[in-house]
Amino acid sequence: MSLAGKVAIVTGSGQGLGLAYARELARQGAAVVVNDVNEEAAAAAVARIEADGGKARAVVVPVGSTEAAKALVEGAVAAFGRLDILVTNAGILRDKSLLKMTDEDFDLVVNVHLRGTFTCVREAFAYFKANGVQGRIIAIGSPTGQRGNFGQTNYAAAKAGIVGMVRTWALEMKKAGVTVNAVIPVAATAMTKTVPYFAKAVEADERGEAMPAFFRHDLGFGTAEDVAGLIAYLASDEAAGITGQAIGAGGDRLQVWTHPEPATTDYREGGWTYEALREHGAELIGAHLQSVGEEFLPLPEGLQPQAEKTGAEVR
Ligand SMILES: NC(=O)c1ccc[n+]([C@@H]2O[C@H](COP(=O)([O-])OP(=O)(O)OC[C@H]3O[C@@H](n4cnc5c(N)ncnc54)[C@H](O)[C@@H]3O)[C@@H](O)[C@H]2O)c1
Repeated sequence: MSLAGKVAIVTGSGQGLGLAYARELARQGAAVVVNDVNEEAAAAAVARIEADGGKARAVVVPVGSTEAAKALVEGAVAAFGRLDILVTNAGILRDKSLLKMTDEDFDLVVNVHLRGTFTCVREAFAYFKANGVQGRIIAIGSPTGQRGNFGQTNYAAAKAGIVGMVRTWALEMKKAGVTVNAVIPVAATAMTKTVPYFAKAVEADERGEAMPAFFRHDLGFGTAEDVAGLIAYLASDEAAGITGQAIGAGGDRLQVWTHPEPATTDYREGGWTYEALREHGAELIGAHLQSVGEEFLPLPEGLQPQAEKTGAEVR
């Protein structure tokens, strides 16, 4: 087992993707701190990992604050003597279009995802540096953060911010030999199960059948377990050379995302005045417009949901 002797924290691992990550890390030999706000879910996750022959301990704190981050790192060290791997997975949604989104909706989502990732990673990196551990940090992004999505101002801000932090941390952590990557998952969980666009895939999964190939292959939409192998791989010694990346996983699909690059570059001595842009803007900017949002392929015959609504609003 390649992660034998290692200790991992997975935030928000009482259910969904986090639970699948925690189980896979334990299956590969790591001892895992299961974190969640839901005490029962965390206890059940620990029991499940132990029943599979793994080692786990629950630390029930709401990720977001520095105190919670300290409790997690201290909890790992107290329970298992060290820390090697941090997966910042905890998350919530408060989807609303911009004019309906309240300050509270914005702050709640940004606090768990963005601030929670910041505080946990800061604490883990401090531990890695102080103890000479060439640790692994895996932060969780989203297709929404990469491309934007209707109704998700707060979530897009948080998830794009997480990938921005990952790029910065890859630079700051290089000397210490710590790797940091973002995983961009897509899977059937409580977060996505209610999206009508995915209904036929979720129904098949709930019947214990394989999801249709269109979902697994064309949309990269599968089970939480489908993403877990990538998390364990990035946490392993084999992935020592992989850092600063955003890697997508879902169903049968694996993707390495580009980081933003200039699509075109033009120069004008003296700079680009309003007059110069009026003259050249259409050709230099208008002809190179970049698309936004995710592309949702039309669902084939037989895979459409029963409900009238077919939008894929949530992710
Ligand atoms: N499901 C997808 O397709 C998808 C796509 C892109 C990104 N993600 C991201 O993956 C992560 C996991 O999502 P999921 O689909 O498994 O969702 P989920 O709702 O099934 O699980 C999230 C877990 O986080 C816990 N949690 C919420 N707030 C917390 C806090 N403050 N502290 C600790 N735990 C907290 C919840 O109790 C829950 O157990 C999230 O960051 C989500 O944004 C999921």
